[in-house]
Amino acid sequence: MAHVLRDIRPLDQVRSIKVKLGLVVLGSVAATVGAINFAIYVGVHARFAFVAGLIISLVVIQLLAHGMVLPLRQMAAATRAMAAGDYSQRITATAQDEVGSLARSFNTMASQLDRAERQRRELVANVSHELRTPIAALRARLENLADGVEALDEAAVTAMLRGTERLSILVDQLLELSQFESGSVRLNPQRFGLAEAIEDAVAEVGPVRPDVRIAVTADCGLTGAGDTARVHEILTNLLTNAVRHSPEGGTVTVSARPAPGAVRIEVSDQGPGIPAADIERIFDRFYRVDAAREAGSGGAGLGLAIARSIVELHGGSIRAEQRIPSGCRIVTELPN
Ligand SMILES: Nc1ncnc2c1ncn2[C@@H]1O[C@H](COP(=O)(O)OP(=O)(O)OP(=O)(O)O)[C@@H](O)[C@H]1O
Ligand SMILES: [Mg+2]
Repeated sequence: MAHVLRDIRPLDQVRSIKVKLGLVVLGSVAATVGAINFAIYVGVHARFAFVAGLIISLVVIQLLAHGMVLPLRQMAAATRAMAAGDYSQRITATAQDEVGSLARSFNTMASQLDRAERQRRELVANVSHELRTPIAALRARLENLADGVEALDEAAVTAMLRGTERLSILVDQLLELSQFESGSVRLNPQRFGLAEAIEDAVAEVGPVRPDVRIAVTADCGLTGAGDTARVHEILTNLLTNAVRHSPEGGTVTVSARPAPGAVRIEVSDQGPGIPAADIERIFDRFYRVDAAREAGSGGAGLGLAIARSIVELHGGSIRAEQRIPSGCRIVTELPN
């Protein structure tokens, strides 16, 4: 019974809270007058008729106004729950008036906060995990050296140096991503030659895999507009991925062409490519298609997230495509 009463909301479809209040007042006055008249008509004493009228008026108010304050009560309870860290509560938002619209906005805000909180937790877990692995490896090695189990030779020093380099790259990447997220990154846009920008990136990344050929096709004199240091970062990230996934003796192709209102840069390789199910997600932070395989090659899964942030800050777009028969192509468009 209580459940049925709770679901009765006769004024839910009224679009204004002022009209609702008016209807409640009119309804209660009409009910009171009707009850008093009826009681007097059947011969009840005027004093009892008045009391009966008041009771009926209260019942009518309760019936009509029910549902008007419920969302407000729920909102108060949900805000208290949020303050305590629980973002799961939602408000009954069936009313069409201003309170209903407030309840719907509240639900949207609660969902966004819920998602942001989940992402924050995931980020902390990912960061801790990514930092823990190289730190644990370094520590184990240092303990071995301290115990005399391992000799302090060149190989040990080189391995530890590589471990600390990996750590500092990771910390730099995290710092950079947080700057993109806080909106504190300012671009220094200028006109630059695409061919030169690509050659610079190739000169930096090429030596990492001397067995992989990098072929560049860029229209001579083609220029782009953007922050050259940031564009260099996009290119080195894409080239690093391409050479990392290339088969022995493979070829990576980089091309730059004019596109309507933009320049299109494509980086293609002959590696295993990216499965269709992962193609959208590879730009997410820490996302790796095969985490176990990629971990060995040193990537934390942040390079493409950084590249996407830079491209978006320039007002451009970036996407991955599967090449036929195999391989991956990353297509970047930067406004010109
Ligand atoms: N050219 C490619 N061929 C195949 N898979 C790729 C290629 N580029 C990226 N990927 C996949 O996308 C994932 C994300 O790439 P991303 O550059 O963000 O991270 P990463 O290279 O693993 O690490 P980081 O760039 O932080 O060193 C990679 O782990 C890999 O699984
Ligand atoms: Mg990468």
